[in-house]
Amino acid sequence: MNKLKITTAVYMLLIPVAVLIIFMRVRDTAVIKAEDPIKIGVVIYRGDDAFISSLAVSLDKEAKAVEEEVGRKIIMNIADAKNSQGSENAQVDAFISGKYDVICVNMVDRTVASSIINKAKEADIPVVFFNREPVEEDLLIWDKTFYVGTDAKEAGTMEGQIVADAYLENPDKIDKNKDGRIQYVIMEGEEVHQDSLIRTEYSCKTIANAGIEMQRLARGVGNWMRSPAYEQMLLWLDAFGDSIEVVISNNDEMAMGIIEALKEHNMLKDGPLIVGIDGGKDAIEEIRMGNMEGTVVNDADGQAYTIVKIAWAMAEGKDPEEEVPELNGKYAYIPHYTITRKDIR
Ligand code: GAL
Repeated sequence: MNKLKITTAVYMLLIPVAVLIIFMRVRDTAVIKAEDPIKIGVVIYRGDDAFISSLAVSLDKEAKAVEEEVGRKIIMNIADAKNSQGSENAQVDAFISGKYDVICVNMVDRTVASSIINKAKEADIPVVFFNREPVEEDLLIWDKTFYVGTDAKEAGTMEGQIVADAYLENPDKIDKNKDGRIQYVIMEGEEVHQDSLIRTEYSCKTIANAGIEMQRLARGVGNWMRSPAYEQMLLWLDAFGDSIEVVISNNDEMAMGIIEALKEHNMLKDGPLIVGIDGGKDAIEEIRMGNMEGTVVNDADGQAYTIVKIAWAMAEGKDPEEEVPELNGKYAYIPHYTITRKDIR
């Protein structure tokens, strides 16, 4: 065999090998691309808010559930804005420069969403707001913005219904001074939060619509937190003593503060009827012990699943309304349900 023939034979062998290597590389790139994780950046308004911290746990859990369901890896990074809008803006900026696929935001101040939306729009990164609803005008700035939350009117109505049902079943137990009216105090969440005013309005309206007369002794703002509610209830107990017949709380965590204050005054047993919202673990325990009448469950898992599903749909370029039945245009409101003493008994 001469030299030329050997060289030709070597080339003949090498060419298919080279073609195979190139082919494998192209295939490999395609496979890796398909398995590229979806990066979701989440910012919560403050991690020491009991419901929000349970929502953060649900988000992690549901990201794994959606990952399994759709067969694509999801990386979720959750940042805590610690109640500072400035920090939250910086955290969103970091997600934008980190080229996240979708950003989910629980606004500290729900009235300033436009600056986040404008930045996200420039980077073409969809935004799913949750729990703290931006004003509609801001959401309309860009079509890749959504909101996942609950209907505050529904929560208030259900909470009022718990009070009305308990009263109608046994009015004498609640109307301790037998004046035919309910003397009540109301503990409200943050004044700027869409849920506070609406929950208050509808819980009271529902009780009144059931034909029950109400007399408000006082209202206080506990910002969703246990300790301000506890402090406020101590003041109310000093001012009104045992004439408080019902305590309506805009959430469970504040109801826990109220229960603590009543315990301290040895007034929990045969004390006022207490209702809350969220379906928190501690509240369910108090209901089981008979210290609280009931709660309206704010479905953290349901909200988290919907948030992740919208994020995934947007990252994959799918139509989120087709993938997420709860989504109606830009809005998904996850239904509430109640847990009362009767359910646990
Ligand atoms: C509400 C919830 C409150 C508080 C608030 C924070 O939906 O009931 O407990 O977490 O959100 O925005």
